[in-house]
Amino acid sequence: CALFFFNCSSNHLIVCGHRGAMGHATENTIASIKKGIELKADMLEIDVFKIKTGEIVVFHDDTMERITNGTGKIEDYNFVDLRKVLIEGKHQIPTLEEVILAIDRKAVLNIELKGENTASDTYAIIEKFKGKGWKESDFFISSFRKGELVKMRALNNSIAIGLLTYQEPIDQVLKNAKEVKAQAINPYYKTLTKEDVLTMKANKYKVIPWTVNDSLDIKNMKDMKVSGIITNFPERVR
Ligand code: G3P
Ligand code: CA
Repeated sequence: CALFFFNCSSNHLIVCGHRGAMGHATENTIASIKKGIELKADMLEIDVFKIKTGEIVVFHDDTMERITNGTGKIEDYNFVDLRKVLIEGKHQIPTLEEVILAIDRKAVLNIELKGENTASDTYAIIEKFKGKGWKESDFFISSFRKGELVKMRALNNSIAIGLLTYQEPIDQVLKNAKEVKAQAINPYYKTLTKEDVLTMKANKYKVIPWTVNDSLDIKNMKDMKVSGIITNFPERVR
C-alpha cells in the first residue's frame, strides 16, 4: 500500500525523507537516496534545477557556495563544468535520471521543482522512465512555484502534485491547490494548526508538512493527524 498511498484508503502515515535522508547522508546525493531506501522511507524528496545545457540536476540552493567547491548560480553551469564540481569534496551533483535509477521504485520520488522552467523537462524524463517500467505513481511533484505546478498539471492531469506552502492564509492555499488540482498540500509545520489540517483534509487533500526533525514536533504532527511527514530522519517518524 505504501507505494500507492494516493489511491489507498488506509491511515498509513507517509514517511518522506528530506533531500534523500539528509540527517544521515549528504543532501540530494545518490548516497542520501540509498540511505533513505535503507531507512524504509515511503517517499524521498529531492530538489531540481535546469542548467544552461538543459539537463535537470538535483541540488537545493540556487548558488553553489554553501556545500560545493563551485561558485555562482547553478543555472549558469554547463553539464561538463557541473560534473567537475564536488559536494563536500566527494559527491558529484547527480542528474534527475541518475536519482531515478538509484531509487529504482523502492520509494516514491518526490521531485521538488525548485528552479524555474523545470516542469516540462522533468515531465519528459518521467515519461521516458514510464516507457521503461516505471509507473506514474512512482513520482510525486511538489513546488512552491505555482507556475511550474500549473505547467505540470497541463502536461498530465493525474500525476500526484503537492503544493508547498509557507504561512500563506488558508483561503489562498486552498485556491492555489484547487488551481493546480493538487492531491496534497505540503505546509510549513511550525505554523500549521489543527484547524488547518482539518480544513485541508475536509477539502480532500493529503497534508504532508515539512521539515519535521525533532521527536516532540513529530509527535505533535501525528497528534494533529497529518497524512505524512517530511523529515531528515525517517527512522524517527517510524
Ligand atoms: O519539500 C519540502 C522542503 O524540502 C521545502 O524546503 O528548503 O528544504 O527545499 P527546502
Ligand atoms: Ca526541497
